[in-house]
Amino acid sequence: MSESNIDFMIQPQLKFSQDESGLEYIEIENRLATAKIALQGGHVMTWQPKSQDQPVLWLSSNARFIKGRSIRGGIPICWPWFGAHPTDSALCPHGFARVIPWQLVDADTLKNGATRLVLQMMETAESRRQLSYPHLLAMTITIGETLKIDLATTNKASHPFVVGEAFHTYFKVSDISNVHVKGLEDALYSDKVFAYERRVEKNDVRFNGEFDRVYLNTTADCMIEDTGLHRQIRISKSGSQSTVVWTPWADKAEQMGDMGAPDEWRTMVCVETANALENAVVISPNRTHVLSVEYSVETL
Ligand code: BG6
Repeated sequence: MSESNIDFMIQPQLKFSQDESGLEYIEIENRLATAKIALQGGHVMTWQPKSQDQPVLWLSSNARFIKGRSIRGGIPICWPWFGAHPTDSALCPHGFARVIPWQLVDADTLKNGATRLVLQMMETAESRRQLSYPHLLAMTITIGETLKIDLATTNKASHPFVVGEAFHTYFKVSDISNVHVKGLEDALYSDKVFAYERRVEKNDVRFNGEFDRVYLNTTADCMIEDTGLHRQIRISKSGSQSTVVWTPWADKAEQMGDMGAPDEWRTMVCVETANALENAVVISPNRTHVLSVEYSVETL
């Protein structure tokens, strides 16, 4: 969809731009919220409802905006596998959807004033090299007082295929020590920090070191309670059996090189709506699977 094809009613809400390395962006402003999306990766970089005085998403102050590199912060899309590729360690962790171009295929305004955009992942030589069977990946992003994202995978092949996936969302928090994640009590998890050891979560999640867990077989909403910002972010999901919670802590953040100033990692936490490990989804020919999430902010 080119800029000139967009419905004239929605044109004032969208601003298109390109940076010096050729990456393209859409900035959205409606009466409910502002947001910015990079077309590379279909990557929602920012979202802030007008009712809030703080951004909801965290974006690193030294995120790199480079062709073929994922942006640190916002909502990277992990697809068609989560974490390491199941059989080929040479392939990029978390799949290729976050580093190849997407295109805008539809845009409209909902009755409540929210902006709805539909993006589709483009086929490139790289995507064909890494995933040989035919597929369609489309994402509907609804930007308003809440942020809703549907990621739809359609199997165009004549055989079933398996997809691992996640909205790898970075949330802005006051400080990691002020944060509790609720909703994962009693869930089984695989702990990457301790050689994928499996345990059951007993309480709310709190943080005092590197944290990297895939919670399995859980369809529950999660809440990020932040006593410093006096807010709670609610994560409601469907089509998802896993939730991943990740924070790198100081040493790993330093090694990563794009996590911002030395203590900037303390102001983020990732709570990822996913289908990971044995929760990866088998999709039959001509069927579509949809992973959905909706984020909302409540005052504490
Ligand atoms: C999390 C993983 O989802 O993503 C972590 O569980 C990983 O193990 C983190 O370190 C960041 O991944 P990346 O590829 O964006 O640096």
